[in-house]
Amino acid sequence: MPVSEMQVAMSAPVVEVRDLKKHFPIRKGLLRRTVGNVFAVDGVSFSIQPGETLGLVGESGCGKTTVGRTVLRLVEPTGGSIMVRGEDITHLGKKALRPYRREMQIVFQDPFSSLNPRMRAGTIVGEPLKIHGIADGAERERMVARLFDRVGLRAQQMKNFPHEFSGGQRQRISIARALALNPKLIVADEPVSALDVSIQAQVINLMMDLQREEGLAYLFISHNLAVVEHISHRIAVMYLGRIVEYADKVTLFTRPQHPYTEALLSAVPVPDPALKRNKHMVEGDVPSPVRPPPGCHFHTRCPYAIDRCRVESPPLKDVGDGQLVACHLR
Ligand SMILES: Nc1ncnc2c1ncn2[C@@H]1O[C@H](COP(=O)(O)OP(=O)(O)OP(=O)(O)O)[C@@H](O)[C@H]1O
Ligand code: SF4
Ligand SMILES: [Mg+2]
Repeated sequence: MPVSEMQVAMSAPVVEVRDLKKHFPIRKGLLRRTVGNVFAVDGVSFSIQPGETLGLVGESGCGKTTVGRTVLRLVEPTGGSIMVRGEDITHLGKKALRPYRREMQIVFQDPFSSLNPRMRAGTIVGEPLKIHGIADGAERERMVARLFDRVGLRAQQMKNFPHEFSGGQRQRISIARALALNPKLIVADEPVSALDVSIQAQVINLMMDLQREEGLAYLFISHNLAVVEHISHRIAVMYLGRIVEYADKVTLFTRPQHPYTEALLSAVPVPDPALKRNKHMVEGDVPSPVRPPPGCHFHTRCPYAIDRCRVESPPLKDVGDGQLVACHLR
């Protein structure tokens, strides 16, 4: 590869999505006719640099998991594009997609259901090495032992079954499996939400150590802003299939500009009482993504809504220092 191309590849984002959409058709009747759509993801754009963590937050059902799965092409997008290191992978066939698949791995919320209970932990972690024909026999064993060591497990534990581990240890097994192919990006979908609070910090610290050692990038998904605070460099806040605010972590926590971010933040405890935030809880349920409210999706719950909000959708615009906000009042 010529030097200039190599430089572009090295400086290109690990992943960049533009105007990503996923509408799930709703089918009814004997003929399975499409009678509507779930607008799960409806025009989402972001990029993640090598070694960066983008936190993706929002209430249940706002489309976080669908974004993560669509980025990996586990779910086919309805529209928009997915670029990996500058290459458009949106429409690549299965075979052409394979090398990109290796670079992007996923860690799920529930380490119990995502690990085969009948397989030994070492076999689970070594499976990607087997599938991709990277190593077998004693060499695979050595590689798996090293992966166990990197995630803070002992090599002797390779022979144990998933039920013999604690929840935190099981999530370490999932992380080791995700690391096996030396990925550039890990989509972590609520990776600590099923764990005790005391264990959550240990797993997050492990992920941060691995990031420093490997230059890994993360798309870290959580419904809880407090969980993404420590690990994220930038944060995207989603509401009903769209990003409503996108900023670096410090800006988002100190100067939130979107009323929905403000509401989510008011639920996050602050250690310093001098920084006490105004209580401003968001009330009511998230409207259905089958029929999102017209105009600003948030207008049915926003305390500042004006007439314009009910008819006109606010674009995501830069309010300074790269902070993007979708609100008519900003
Ligand atoms: N395969 C599917 N078919 C139809 N609708 C789907 C499918 N997957 C997700 N949805 C719908 O898309 C919307 C977004 O779901 P998604 O799982 O992405 O949300 P989420 O933000 O990850 O929620 P949670 O915090 O509960 O995990 C929801 O209304 C969900 O019911
Ligand atoms: S555009 Fe209107 S409804 Fe939407 S967040 Fe801003 S003020 Fe609230
Ligand atoms: Mg989810």
